[in-house]
Amino acid sequence: MENLNQIESEILNKIKSAKDRSAYDLIKTQIFGKKGIITELFKKISDLEQSERKEYASRLNSLKTKVTDILEKKLTDFDQSEINKKLKNEKIDVTLPGRTYFTGKIHPVSQVIDEVTSIFSEIGFAVEEGPDVENEYYNFSALNTPENHPARDMHDTFYLNHSRDLLLRTHTSPVQIRTMLKGKPPFKIIAPGRTYRHDSDQTHSPMFHQLEGLHIDQNVNMGHLKGCLYYFVKKFFEVEKVKIRFRPSHFPFTEPSAEVDIGYKIQDGKIKIGEGDKWLEILGCGMVHPNVLKNVKVNPKKYQGYAFGVGIDRLAMLKYGINDLRAFFESDIRWLEFYGFDPLDVPTNYRGLSR
Ligand code: DAH
Repeated sequence: MENLNQIESEILNKIKSAKDRSAYDLIKTQIFGKKGIITELFKKISDLEQSERKEYASRLNSLKTKVTDILEKKLTDFDQSEINKKLKNEKIDVTLPGRTYFTGKIHPVSQVIDEVTSIFSEIGFAVEEGPDVENEYYNFSALNTPENHPARDMHDTFYLNHSRDLLLRTHTSPVQIRTMLKGKPPFKIIAPGRTYRHDSDQTHSPMFHQLEGLHIDQNVNMGHLKGCLYYFVKKFFEVEKVKIRFRPSHFPFTEPSAEVDIGYKIQDGKIKIGEGDKWLEILGCGMVHPNVLKNVKVNPKKYQGYAFGVGIDRLAMLKYGINDLRAFFESDIRWLEFYGFDPLDVPTNYRGLSR
């Protein structure tokens, strides 16, 4: 009679050696296939003496059951290890904090500067710049604002030395002086930039931004100023119609001077620019004072023109519904994420300023 014990241990070793599913399938046929080890053992029953048959068959049957069980167990082990491998590879720790992507954003002030630059460049204005640290002459005297002039007090100036000749510019108007001193008329420029005053609350920040405009030529009059500002306000607020009011005012460097208000109303809790019966001041302007032209060696009998100064931060707040100016300069990344603009979407007149 076959040595079933030895055969059993051979079979078990074989099964143990199966390292993957295909090896396992091969071994399974080697055991239970048509010519498999156990199949062959069953065939031998008929060769045995009657007396031996019963015991042999019963031992063979239990061997078959044992091997079948082991094979089955092995199969579940394979499946399990495959699942484990997958779980390990695709493991996600849901308790970890989320990884956030921050794309850079354009600050609303930069956005508005880009927008106004685009608007004014369409009608022939070039962009000029001047330094933040100015001297007293460019910031005040050349602009027809002599010492002891009350306008100087109103500017809450940051002086940088005791003799008070160096200061942080209180407005962008000194760029008018610098531009006219270095060139010859005609002049048609805008100058966006930082300005400084000793003032801080919800609508004032010690550093803020202005946009200066200057247009000097032989036949420039107040009608041109009006037309230019109408065009600007309509383009900037992206509205068809706009109500504008010119209110007499005073600036030392313009004569006559005006402050410009735009009409607005509150609709569904939101500000609507251009219509309605409320007025909002947005800029100062006027015809450049002959004394200013004289100071920069431009003949006021031959040349004249207009100038204007707009608060850029204020424009940004109005257009984009931001109500606290101080947040502009807090560098809070969450604020910028919310109010900022796509860096790849540069404002142009033909594609739309803000989308
Ligand atoms: N510089 C003025 C200010 O800061 C604003 C201003 C008013 C500018 C009238 C101008 C102007 O050019 O013509 O308050």
